[in-house]
Amino acid sequence: TQANIGVVGMAVMGSNLARNLASREGNTVAIFNRSYEKTQTVLDEHPEAEFIPASSYEEFAASLTKPRTAIIMVQAGKGTDAVIDALTEVFEPGDIIVDGGNALFTDTIRREKAVRETGINFVGAGISGGEEGALLGPSIMPGGSAEAWETLGPILKSIAAVVDGEPCVTHVGTDGAGHFVKMIHNGIEYADMQLIGEAYDLIRRGTGKTPAEIAEIFAEWNKGELESYLIEITAEVLRQVDAETGKPLVDVILDQAGSKGTGVWTVQTSLDLGIPVSGIAEAVFARSVSSKPAQRAAAAALPGPTANPVEDVDGFIEGVRLALYASKVIAYSQGFDAIVAGAEQYGWDIKKGEIAKIWRGGCIIRARFLNRITEAYAENPGLVSLVTAPFFTDVVATAQESWRNVVADAAHAGIPAPVFASSLAYYDSLRADRLPAALTQGQRDFFGAHTYKRVDKEGTFHTLWSGDRSEIESVDSH
Ligand code: 6PG
Repeated sequence: TQANIGVVGMAVMGSNLARNLASREGNTVAIFNRSYEKTQTVLDEHPEAEFIPASSYEEFAASLTKPRTAIIMVQAGKGTDAVIDALTEVFEPGDIIVDGGNALFTDTIRREKAVRETGINFVGAGISGGEEGALLGPSIMPGGSAEAWETLGPILKSIAAVVDGEPCVTHVGTDGAGHFVKMIHNGIEYADMQLIGEAYDLIRRGTGKTPAEIAEIFAEWNKGELESYLIEITAEVLRQVDAETGKPLVDVILDQAGSKGTGVWTVQTSLDLGIPVSGIAEAVFARSVSSKPAQRAAAAALPGPTANPVEDVDGFIEGVRLALYASKVIAYSQGFDAIVAGAEQYGWDIKKGEIAKIWRGGCIIRARFLNRITEAYAENPGLVSLVTAPFFTDVVATAQESWRNVVADAAHAGIPAPVFASSLAYYDSLRADRLPAALTQGQRDFFGAHTYKRVDKEGTFHTLWSGDRSEIESVDSH
């Protein structure tokens, strides 16, 4: 027998994805790893799965039916290029190489271009859902050509998470579109996680509740409009007791957040695109601040406010819930702005509603309210900002007073809530009738003759600041 699909890289994500593939009707899976040992381990541990193991790339290629389709699941970076090179050696025109790692989308664009010259299809596919998702059903965001999607689509549909009968996979767009959207997914994941962290911190320090008690609050929230995977696992993490010390696990975990880079990429890319993803940026910065032990130790003695315990505990907690919801809407709104801008910049036809749809299951940011995003874009495909869609306007209208109070309370109590606060500032910036950007323009014109436009007539103007301060119309603008 031959395999209809192959997986290269037998680390956890790769082997889980291979097992997922093998468990679906109609798939036979070829597996390969640089060292055969790992392949043997997978074979030994999963006798139930129908795998065709290969000990060389040649053998791997020979075990695949045409067009050969292989998913690479190796650590993103140089390793990926090496595997792509090896596969292009043994594959033929029409075959399909899929990179299922968290590659930077510009790398994917570059690789797609290079591989296409050989006649082989290259697909960068974002795969979300962690180890369990890979095994049981992830959310998959493939880019690449329409031709590749024809063969790949049914295979990916067979392993993706399913919500309301629909598999959580869609052809996102050409070349790097899939990895771009996966990157934004991760950026939103960062914002969402930080928001949850801020909510926890505010409740804990504001009310003195224990992690176990706060776990119950999150479990309760998970029954309502905030229902999501991240809220659900937050309750699990907060409930966990450390076996060694008997303390809540969250109190013995070192409070320095790590990262693998996708959040940073989201922010860097959005800066280049001119899209304010302030919530995501603050979430990335919050991890950076946490990982500066020397600075934190040196600053520990700096003055803060005197503690002022919350009086209306239930009211405060409900306020935090509403602030979390509203800030989360902003994070998604900003994330989708980045998707729109990326699509425009790179020429991708990305269906926003479809993206929200495939994020409903399998992925880390899966949440009940994603349906509402799909609906918002279905109602108005030209929606300029998610937060202005009727459903989300209602959310912020209901939340805004609490949101403001929570941000003010956080400031008064000296508890950092950077994503709550920056999301509110962004919201108020969008709403503002006039922004102080007019003053910025005046300053720029003053020191650099950078010119400005006027509200009452066309043209570009400059005030002769160092002369008689009269205004002249300027021909070239900078
Ligand atoms: C997913 C996750 C996954 C991974 C990230 C975490 O969608 O399944 O986003 O891609 O867990 O690499 O990123 P950090 O290590 O940067 O937090």
